[in-house]
Amino acid sequence: MAFERVCALSDVPESGALRVELADVDVAVVRFEGQLYALEDRCSHADVPLSEGDVEVLGGAPTIECFLHGSCFDLRTGEPTNLPATEPVDVYPVRVEGEDVLVDTEADASASAVQPSHAAGN
Ligand code: FES
Repeated sequence: MAFERVCALSDVPESGALRVELADVDVAVVRFEGQLYALEDRCSHADVPLSEGDVEVLGGAPTIECFLHGSCFDLRTGEPTNLPATEPVDVYPVRVEGEDVLVDTEADASASAVQPSHAAGN
């Protein structure tokens, strides 16, 4: 786990996204309905930033919409909710410490975002 400060909380718009360019990856920090999310800022359909899209509830899920072709991505899991994108984008754990927003781009938040309904086993 390697949380690093990516921005100030006040930099992130209400119901919107902030693009943060880190050394290895660009991250969209999204604030929506009182929650913060962090996901890779690159649509899985083509190389355009998701942070330029709108955030909205779609089918009960908080999503961000790709501005280019309209695929929406679940902010909790990174899964696309509609075509043309078919692949998920990475989502990362995010937390707030005081006025700082910290993101761990080495971890995958989608596993923890989805409530495990059964123990993994084989
Ligand atoms: S580039 Fe995002 S849906 Fe096509």
